[in-house]
Amino acid sequence: MTQITVASGRALTGACTVPGDKSISHRAVMFGSIAEGDTVIHNFLDGGDCRSTIAVMRGLGVSIDVIAPTELVVHGRGVEGLQEPADVLDCGNSGTTIRLLTGLLVGQQFPTFLNGTAQIRRRPMGRIVRPLRGMGADILGRQNGEYAPIGIRPARLRGLEYTLPVASAQVKSALLLAGLYAHGLTVVIEPGPARDHTERMLAAMGAPISVYGNKISSERPQTPLRSLDITVPGDLSSAAFLLVAGAITPGSRLTLQGVGVNPTRIGIVEALLEMGAAIRFENPREEGGEPVADLVVETSALRGATFGGQQIVTMIDELPILAVAATQAAGRTVVRDAHELRVKETDRIASTVGELRKLGARIEPTADGFIIEGPTPLTGAPVESQGDHRLAMAMTVAGLVARGQTVVYGAEVTGDSFPGFEVTLQALGADLSVAA
Ligand code: S3P
Repeated sequence: MTQITVASGRALTGACTVPGDKSISHRAVMFGSIAEGDTVIHNFLDGGDCRSTIAVMRGLGVSIDVIAPTELVVHGRGVEGLQEPADVLDCGNSGTTIRLLTGLLVGQQFPTFLNGTAQIRRRPMGRIVRPLRGMGADILGRQNGEYAPIGIRPARLRGLEYTLPVASAQVKSALLLAGLYAHGLTVVIEPGPARDHTERMLAAMGAPISVYGNKISSERPQTPLRSLDITVPGDLSSAAFLLVAGAITPGSRLTLQGVGVNPTRIGIVEALLEMGAAIRFENPREEGGEPVADLVVETSALRGATFGGQQIVTMIDELPILAVAATQAAGRTVVRDAHELRVKETDRIASTVGELRKLGARIEPTADGFIIEGPTPLTGAPVESQGDHRLAMAMTVAGLVARGQTVVYGAEVTGDSFPGFEVTLQALGADLSVAA
């Protein structure tokens, strides 16, 4: 078990990059596997979750060369080229892996079994399983398919028009992938702007994907999917920890280079700007079909604000770190319409409230979010990651402004999405040490 010890009092300055985007890294490996030819991936996220995707795709017969930890070549086998695995496919701790894979595998000619850690077996699968069954998929799972382990038998799929009950990129992506193996058109109607990396990448590969407003469709490709040369942008969800660290730590100025700023992901930047954060976008550009920019942040006088509705889906993974920012903002911050936080790696309403209170934060849980009063001087204390990477990093950033020492136990999970998180903060000047 790893622990991070962090103290306040030092400014953060300098420039850095953040590791490649997790969502895009998963998709590059999965979609590259069903393209024809070699997909070359630069700046791949060498984190625990994406390694699970590599292992699973290898289990399906795909040859993947790891040239360097962040440089991969995926030898695509074509849409019909995956092979029956010899074992259960272990999705580790990765919700994106198990959910997208289920969509990809229901239309194969062979059976598969998917499983993962105890944490994965607690996360809802019914939201994927029910609409896939509506397409004719033959899926077995614990509690009638509500939870993994999942078993899949070959089935003849038909297209479906489906309105997502909650905006979820994982559900949308699973259905669009199944649609590549179905007879007829699959149409997904989304209630809010969930991240659109699947649509962008599959379209760039030449797959028959169409987007009309909030309706996205897929169908069986008539021609092979083209392999791509993909440079994965820096992960805005990882950059968010540094944006908040820079905004709340006195005397700071940080430049985060090459961060993905896809409009379906930038809710956290918009929220911090609304709270008065000094954040600028510099050098806007496009890499591999995704918008990218350098982000500059300086210490800012934050004020509370209210967030809800459609903005929530564009910053769902950033709400724990937004809560940390809110403890330092003048006035009340309200987050609502975020029920989905209850079914992430942890119940992120309960876990964020529980851990931040240990530092003296004034934060109340609600059914669908939290209410925070600030600014509150935080006091260092021992806290737990609860096995949740984003909670571990949020608590470390809180420790940067808490008087005395904060110790984050179970901090090895930061590597699930942000390998090098601790070293990056140290290089920017943080008073931080790591012990195994
Ligand atoms: C992801 C979608 C989101 C997000 C997760 C990654 C993806 O989950 O929270 O970290 O890569 O598609 P939901 O689809 O469950 O909202």
